[in-house]
Amino acid sequence: MVEIKIKSSKDGPNLVIIDGQVKMAFCRCGHSNNKPFCDGTHHKAKFEAEEKETQIFNG
Ligand code: FES
Repeated sequence: MVEIKIKSSKDGPNLVIIDGQVKMAFCRCGHSNNKPFCDGTHHKAKFEAEEKETQIFNG
């Protein structure tokens, strides 16, 4: 069984979580120098956003 979630982290990237482990982090602040991936620039940019979690697959 594989569990896949997408979590929009508080003030940070969209995380792809597979079986409880973060596998990828996609930028959602628009400031990354390595798009589509997060490079941590959201801290410098003082990005603010709500946390949200969605389970997209469990089987
Ligand atoms: S969310 Fe991290 S650099 Fe954009």
